[in-house]
Amino acid sequence: GDAWLVTHALAKDELSRLRERDTEQVAFRKGLVKLGRICGYEIIDGRMETEYVEIETPLTTTMGERVTGLDDVVIVNVLRAATPFVEGLLKAFPRARQGVISASRDESAGMDDDGEFPISVDYVKLPDIAPDDTVIVADPMLATGSTMSAVLSHITEQGADPDDLVVLSAVAAPPGIVRVSESFPEVDLLTVAIDDELNEEGFIVPGLGDAGDRAFR
Ligand code: PRP
Repeated sequence: GDAWLVTHALAKDELSRLRERDTEQVAFRKGLVKLGRICGYEIIDGRMETEYVEIETPLTTTMGERVTGLDDVVIVNVLRAATPFVEGLLKAFPRARQGVISASRDESAGMDDDGEFPISVDYVKLPDIAPDDTVIVADPMLATGSTMSAVLSHITEQGADPDDLVVLSAVAAPPGIVRVSESFPEVDLLTVAIDDELNEEGFIVPGLGDAGDRAFR
């Protein structure tokens, strides 16, 4: 798969606000919603096709252009930090079907020698996924990639074709990118920023802190 960056200036602007330690909860959540919308538009621009259609304006007949595939989109919400991010994505893909997966790192166990966290997957509800669907798996943070690997295993077990899977994050760290792209080579990775590193606790540095806590607590 490909790894690509969302380069829209507004995406960088929103991400910079999210990174600021002084951005409080409501602004943080709204920022994730806005960022989700921009990323959705970038996905449409980067990987969806358009078709020419004849349309009637009030004055004449002309050729218009429509995005195809908008009816065949599945968005997977990786609880919990992805919830506001998905709210934004839905503004770009209003007719998407949705899946929900609760997957979280066992922070008390800590990172193991391979740089992985044990992941508990507690709830999985996915819509039927058809061969034509584009599946967008949204999680603002891709750190060690442990969570995303567990999530992608569930999605591919349910029959999704990895060719049509897009992992969307706001911030990704190199170890997570490597882990996911080695385990799921067909999956495309899309992120707004690739940060420098992970600290010993597995947090992305410079990052934006704990996105779930900042949006919800
Ligand atoms: C955070 C984040 C990702 C995951 C990334 O979730 O939202 O889901 O960690 O880390 P990884 O790439 O090392 O697996 P967390 O487990 O804190 O759960 P939360 O969203 O409920 O806060």
